Amino acid sequence: MSAKVYLVGGGPGAVDLLTVRAVRLLAEAEIVFHDALVPQAILALAPRAEKVAVGKRSGRHSTAQHFINKRLADAAQQHRIVVRLKGGDPLLFGRAQEEIDYLRAHGIAVEVVPGVTAAFAASADLGVSLTQRGLARSVAFVTPRVGAGEADSTWVQTVLAADTAAIYMGAGEALAISQALIKGGKPAATPVAVIENASLGAAVARGTLAELPQLAAQLSGGPVLILLGEVLRNAVSAAQRAKARRRLAR
Ligand SMILES: C[S@@+](CC[C@H](N)C(=O)[O-])C[C@H]1O[C@@H](n2cnc3c(N)ncnc32)[C@H](O)[C@@H]1O
Repeated sequence: MSAKVYLVGGGPGAVDLLTVRAVRLLAEAEIVFHDALVPQAILALAPRAEKVAVGKRSGRHSTAQHFINKRLADAAQQHRIVVRLKGGDPLLFGRAQEEIDYLRAHGIAVEVVPGVTAAFAASADLGVSLTQRGLARSVAFVTPRVGAGEADSTWVQTVLAADTAAIYMGAGEALAISQALIKGGKPAATPVAVIENASLGAAVARGTLAELPQLAAQLSGGPVLILLGEVLRNAVSAAQRAKARRRLAR
């Protein structure tokens, strides 16, 4: 059987942000391995497929990943169209390379279908361009999270060098992020937006880098993306002015 494993981007959550190609593959799939963050409404687009949840939570690393790799390879022996559905874009913070390398090493064809990553959904929700003429010409995608046994990350230097930063998997470490960046030289007044559930009626908290821990504490447990940089200044000041007006009206 000429099977193929498709690594498909599930996007940030809204069903209508899936690509047409993703929708077609889900409809044709015989089996779908999906992450924890992929909503039920998206899985419903694969009515014929067996659904297998393989969501990894942080802290469970190589064994779980090896197990997923093997299950994908086994599925390719039994099914023609195997979909590995990942949140956002599969090639950003999704451990896709391990799956691609393993499958190719076992002679299994792999194709990647890109998806809308959380940073783009979050900036769309805010209506703020991550690059702006004369203000921001670079965007860094970073995470402070490193797996057990991995080398230290250079995320702090990367954020310091970029005009705009999108920080993934950082909400639980908001205090450490704020302290590390301020210590590294990023101004404490750098505008920050914390976006929870981007594309799904997002909740947004806006403020400064120094306020990041309080901003993150306002959110309620959904996936959270942190954006920071001067591009957010107008969005942050407008929110602060609105807050001040509400205070005066009371
Ligand atoms: C394991 S990473 C996967 C990122 C994914 N591959 C992407 O391109 O968006 C999971 C992190 O992405 C971010 N994320 C994913 N979906 C999100 C959403 N709808 N709103 C805000 N952040 C989101 C959060 O930082 C979350 O902890």
